[in-house]
Amino acid sequence: MCGIVGYVGPKSTLDVLLGGLKRLEYRGYDSAGVSVIDAKVGLQTRKRAGKLGALIEELEQNPLQDAHIGIGHTRWATHGAPNDVNAHPHLGGDHHKLSLIHNGIIENFSELKAELLNQGVQFSSETDSEVAAHLIAREFEKTKDLTSAFRNVVNRLEGAFTLLCIHEDQPDLILAARRNSPLVIGLGEGENFLGSDVAAFVAHTKRAVSVGQDEIVELRKDSVKVTNFAGTEVALSEFTVDWDASAASKGGWPSFMAKEIADQPQAVGDTLMGRLRSDGSVKLKEFAGFDAISQIDRIIIIACGTAAYAGEVTKYALEKWAKIPTSVELAHEFRYRDPIVNEKTLVIAISQSGETMDTLMATRYAKEKGAKVLAICNTQGATLARESDAVLYTHAGPEVAVASTKAFTAQITAGQLVALSLAWLRSAMPAQQLKDVGQELLKLPRQIEQVLQQGKKVKELAIELKDAKSVLFLGRNVGFPIAMEGALKLKELAYIHAEGFAAGELKHGPIALIEQGQPVIVVVPSPKGEDSLHSKVVSNIQEIKARGARVIAVAEEGDAEVTKYADQVFFIPATHPYLAAQLSVVPLQIFASELASAKGLDVDQPRNLAKSVTVE
Ligand code: F6R
Repeated sequence: MCGIVGYVGPKSTLDVLLGGLKRLEYRGYDSAGVSVIDAKVGLQTRKRAGKLGALIEELEQNPLQDAHIGIGHTRWATHGAPNDVNAHPHLGGDHHKLSLIHNGIIENFSELKAELLNQGVQFSSETDSEVAAHLIAREFEKTKDLTSAFRNVVNRLEGAFTLLCIHEDQPDLILAARRNSPLVIGLGEGENFLGSDVAAFVAHTKRAVSVGQDEIVELRKDSVKVTNFAGTEVALSEFTVDWDASAASKGGWPSFMAKEIADQPQAVGDTLMGRLRSDGSVKLKEFAGFDAISQIDRIIIIACGTAAYAGEVTKYALEKWAKIPTSVELAHEFRYRDPIVNEKTLVIAISQSGETMDTLMATRYAKEKGAKVLAICNTQGATLARESDAVLYTHAGPEVAVASTKAFTAQITAGQLVALSLAWLRSAMPAQQLKDVGQELLKLPRQIEQVLQQGKKVKELAIELKDAKSVLFLGRNVGFPIAMEGALKLKELAYIHAEGFAAGELKHGPIALIEQGQPVIVVVPSPKGEDSLHSKVVSNIQEIKARGARVIAVAEEGDAEVTKYADQVFFIPATHPYLAAQLSVVPLQIFASELASAKGLDVDQPRNLAKSVTVE
């Protein structure tokens, strides 16, 4: 949720921290702050409620002496309102020599705070994080060894945390710790970095190291040491970031979301690359050595939000092509009942960030019960990827806008590759039919480009509907999760009431919502699909038209029936019925993004949200 950056080296620390925070702002944008240590001036801190711009203004009005070591934070509020006082960094000790930033939730903070209050410690904020700052500062006063003080305190904390801490008396060292919350090291020449993800430092170095669960980092400009919470040194596992800083910039687009929608042909193409041969056959090298995959008798897909809708689309392919019973579970619900999971269960955990706490906890729970785990993940070195038996990376590149778009179409594509691969492994369908689907998949990037060309028309509709109070979405088969995804995008970006329904469910209740002028966006299946539901959806359109709905359809090119009844149609190229998901979602994404822009809203950073939800 919060974004964290640390730097030690010869560059302007403020430049590095503010550049990193800019790229991490998608994680949270309720407030931002920095601390740096200058040898003469000592520890200096500036922080402000609001987006990063507010901190930059504060630094202009109240400049600080730039330095060569520092930490920075952008906040998504959990404990305490998003105001100046609760903004990070938090200072510890009687002389405020220690500065600390935190991502996560310290669950036992109340008892720790009570203990400190009893000792006469005064708190400035309502946050759980300030407790850690005071505890470390007090421990340091006793031990005079910052690293052991830090270790002693993190061993007392419960919950989820990434902590970064600097102290005026040890101005060459940043200490960091992580439990259930992300942290990555960036390795430079005579300089080193820390970040919540590699975006924090990719402009400076592509050499990165993931920090494992319950590990502590001692970062100096020319050395990096990682130990576990007990103090035993652990080996660094270095990886190379495979994208550069320009991939995480808007590149002339009005918003990251607009850019990321337009990036989808590439995101899908890159996800297919090297996995799908030109004859349409699929072989996933990610399954090599993953022998358990041939023993499984059911699949549970675990995810949240948009990623769960990608899972819903994937379910159709897994059951139809690979013939494996599949269910999709919202991670936060799954873990708190008593699901039936055993050694023959394959869990497919889908997550763009690979750091979503609900998904991680549910996956760990399934693993404990014996399940094998395959992650579909977009972030190299993410916790989910590290904790899974196998990983299929989506190669969507960095997704910065809070609302997921290109990661979604890449997740569905990866899910379909898994389904095809399992179908090949189990000979679940005739080879030629599997190759035919593969051939259709290969056409998808080009077909998404064709759909994108209708962006201008979709924008006109969005502007026209900008004052709508409610928009409904209908779909069947894979069109149902796409309808729910279209509704989610509109809710989160434009703050308009929106709901996605299975079109067959309409007559069981939702049709009562239809009144004169109610906009309804209908995702229409292909008229040529083998189990065509087309005529049933066309009947639904007639039913809602008769009750005054304004019908906007997303339908296959040449669908004359739909054109007769809908007020407006956006066409997608003909494809396999399941692959239509990646095409029909594109106008819905553009619609939500343009409608939010027409209302003057911040498309990339909608209110109350954060990109990666690292708390439960
Ligand atoms: C909505 C959106 C969220 C995420 C969800 C899971 O646009 O982005 O619903 O899909 O929070 O995030 P990841 O995929 O990172 O696990």
